[in-house]
Amino acid sequence: MTQALAILLAAGEGTRMRSARPKVMQEVGNRPLIAHVAHAAAEAEVDTLAIVIGPGMAAVTEAAQKAAEGARQTVTSHVQSERLGTGHAVLAARTAIADRYDHVLVLLGDAPLVRPQTIQAARRALSEGADIAVVGFRAADPTGYGRLIVHDGQVVAIREHRDADPAERAIDFCNSGIMAFAQAPMLSLLDAIGNDNAKGEYYLTDAIEIANRAGLVVRAVEAPETEVMGVNDRAQLAECEAAFQAAKRADVLSSGVSLIAPETVYFSADTQIGPDATVEPHVVFGPGTVIESGARIRAFSHLEGAHVAADAQIGPYARLRPGTEIGEKARIGNFVEAKNAVFGPGAKANHLSYVGDTSVGAKANIGAGTITCNYDGFFKYRTEIGEGAFVGSNSALVAPVRIGAGAIVGSGSVITETVPDDALALGRGRQVIKEGRAAQFRETKSNQKKHD
Ligand code: UD1
Ligand code: CA
Repeated sequence: MTQALAILLAAGEGTRMRSARPKVMQEVGNRPLIAHVAHAAAEAEVDTLAIVIGPGMAAVTEAAQKAAEGARQTVTSHVQSERLGTGHAVLAARTAIADRYDHVLVLLGDAPLVRPQTIQAARRALSEGADIAVVGFRAADPTGYGRLIVHDGQVVAIREHRDADPAERAIDFCNSGIMAFAQAPMLSLLDAIGNDNAKGEYYLTDAIEIANRAGLVVRAVEAPETEVMGVNDRAQLAECEAAFQAAKRADVLSSGVSLIAPETVYFSADTQIGPDATVEPHVVFGPGTVIESGARIRAFSHLEGAHVAADAQIGPYARLRPGTEIGEKARIGNFVEAKNAVFGPGAKANHLSYVGDTSVGAKANIGAGTITCNYDGFFKYRTEIGEGAFVGSNSALVAPVRIGAGAIVGSGSVITETVPDDALALGRGRQVIKEGRAAQFRETKSNQKKHD
C-alpha cells in the first residue's frame, strides 16, 4: 500500500466573504468547506492531512480533525504566518512532507466538491510513472486561472493568468489547484520556486517548469469544472451549494431512494437514506439525519439530528429536532414537533403536537394537540409514555411525569402526576349543564339591545 499525505491549503482569510470566520469554515450542505475536502481525502485513502492555516485559525484544524475522526487519519496543523503564495503555503507543511510518503497531494480548502475518484485518478497517474499529476478542467471562462500548457501529454508549464501572453490566455484547459507529487523530488522542486512574477508571490505552479527542466514526467488529469469550483464570495458559496445539492440528489436517487421532486429537497452532507425510502417535495434534511429503508418523509417536513426507522411515516409538515428517534412503522403527522423524543415501533402522534424529552412506548397514541410541558423556564424534564397508552386530544403532560402502559388520558387533561398502567386519568374541570340558559341569555341580551 502506498502512503499518502494531503496538504490542505486554507490560510486564506476570504475577505470577499465579508465574514468573521475563516473562509473554509463557511458551510455547504451544513458541513464546513474544509471538512468536505478532508472527507474526500479520507475516501481516497489518504493517511495524513496537513492543514495549512493562517494565524488564529485553530477552528479550521478542529473541523478537519472532526471530519477525520471516523477515518483513522492523522491531522497535523501548520501555520503560514505570512501569505506569500501557494508555493510558500505548501512549504509551511515542510515537516510533514519530509516524512516518508509515496504520494503528496495538494488540495484547496476552498474547493470543497472535489471527488475522491479525482484524487485517486491523480494518485493513479503517479503509480503509473508520473512524478507530478495536475488536476485540470475546461473552464467556461478561464479568466483568472492558471493555464495548463500541454505538449504530447506532458504538462510543460502552468502559466498564471496575469503572466500569460494572448496565445496562452486563449487556452481553456486550467489548473484546478489540485496536484499530486511523488515525494522523492518534491521538496527540492518547492525549494527552487522563486517569486519573480506579476504578483511577487511564490507560485506552486512554477514547480511544473522546474520539474520539466529536471526531466520529470508531469501529467494532467481532467475533472469537470463543477467539481473543482472554488469559493471566494457568498454568490459562489450559493453556487457551490446548488452544485452540492444536485450531486447529492443524484447520489440519493441512484441508491434507490424515490424523490418525487428532487430539486425541492435539501440535504446535508451527512444525510443517510436507505433504499426504498420516499421523500416527497419540499423536505429539508438538517445535519445528522438517518432515514431507514421504506420510510416515507412527506411534503414540507424539516428533520435534523433525527433517526427514522424502517417504514415509518413523517409529515406532511412535521418537524423532527435533534435526539429524535422514530421507531419502525411509527407515524408522525402534520404540525407535530418532536425534540429529543424516542417513539417506539408503531407509536403515533398524528396531529398538532409538541413532544419533547419524551419516550413513547410501542403503539402508544398521542392525540391531536397534546403538548409535553417539558420546561419550567429553568430546567428540562422528561415525560414517559408507556406501551399502548392512549393520550386524549389537547392534553398537557406536565413533566416530569409518567403515563403507564395501556393507560388512557381523557382529552383536555392536564396531567401532573403518575398515571399507573391501565388506569384512566382525567385532569379537567367537570362539565356542567344548565338547561335553557342559552335561550334565556339570548332573550335578555336582545331586550337590552332594543332599549339602547
Ligand atoms: C491558484 C493557482 C491557479 C489556479 C487557481 C485555481 C497558483 C499560483 N495559482 O490561483 O493556477 O488556476 O488557484 O483556483 O497556485 N493560499 C494559502 N496561502 C497563500 C496563498 C494561497 O493558503 O499564501 C491558499 C488560498 O487560501 C486558496 C489557495 O491557496 O485556498 C489558492 O490560492 P489563491 O490565492 O486563491 O490562488 P489563485 O490566484 O486563485
Ligand atoms: Ca483562488
